[in-house]
Amino acid sequence: MGDNDTTCGSEVPTHVAIIMDGNGRWALSRGLPRLAGHRAGTENLRRIIRACVEFGVKYLTIYAFSTENWGRPREEIEGLMHILEDVIDKELNELNKEGVQLRHIGRLERLAPKIQEKVLDAIALTKNNQRLVLNVAFNYGGRDEIICGIQKMIKEGVKPEEVNEHLVDRYLFTAGVPHPDLIIRTSGELRISNFLIWQAAYSEWYVTPTYWPDFNKEEFRKALEAYTKRDRRFGGLSATVADNPSHA
Ligand code: IPE
Ligand code: IPE
Ligand code: MG
Repeated sequence: MGDNDTTCGSEVPTHVAIIMDGNGRWALSRGLPRLAGHRAGTENLRRIIRACVEFGVKYLTIYAFSTENWGRPREEIEGLMHILEDVIDKELNELNKEGVQLRHIGRLERLAPKIQEKVLDAIALTKNNQRLVLNVAFNYGGRDEIICGIQKMIKEGVKPEEVNEHLVDRYLFTAGVPHPDLIIRTSGELRISNFLIWQAAYSEWYVTPTYWPDFNKEEFRKALEAYTKRDRRFGGLSATVADNPSHA
């Protein structure tokens, strides 16, 4: 992946997940209200979605609002809900034209009926698009997702001996989506914050101190480049050692 390439070579991660963090600190450092940071973060999201399409990433999952974010001040929560609505209103047609399939992970129930309707309409409109699947984690929590899956299994009478990793995968909000290959967290925090806690078991991590609104296409390219250098062993041995046991 050279500096002037617009593609990322052969080892582009199939699924990238992003914890878009640092909007508040970005705003604070400029003397702006936190919501200005969330707005700038949304602008940036548009750039990163385009970059995913360009680089050939097939699945992008973005953490937009966690089950714990309800603990924030009311004005900030209302602002974030408003931004979600606004993004759907303003971006949906363009995203649809670009071949982006929108999905939602998390629970829609707690959102205002008007927003639920918009999200469901957006999902229906884009359901046959194939270029990029964009999973929006909104009112999402990894623990909540697992609880939801267990409840569903029990309701459907799944037998204990039928429970295995594949079955659990099918009961999560992400059913049918490959596990993330690469998880990016902006703003330097070194924690998972209840994001994809089951699916992240063998994901590669990339953490950058850059705040989300400043995490541009070049930074994204650097993250993908770092990924190509990782040695994913999944508990086994690296390819060089496995091919040549004398190195073991
Ligand atoms: C991430 O930015 C966006 C959401 C959690 C909605 P933050 O709002 O967490 O920004 P910081 O971490 O306070 O800087
Ligand atoms: C994670 O960021 C949630 C989102 C990016 C939506 P937080 O800012 O909520 O995470 P903590 O509180 O720092 O762990
Ligand atoms: Mg944060």
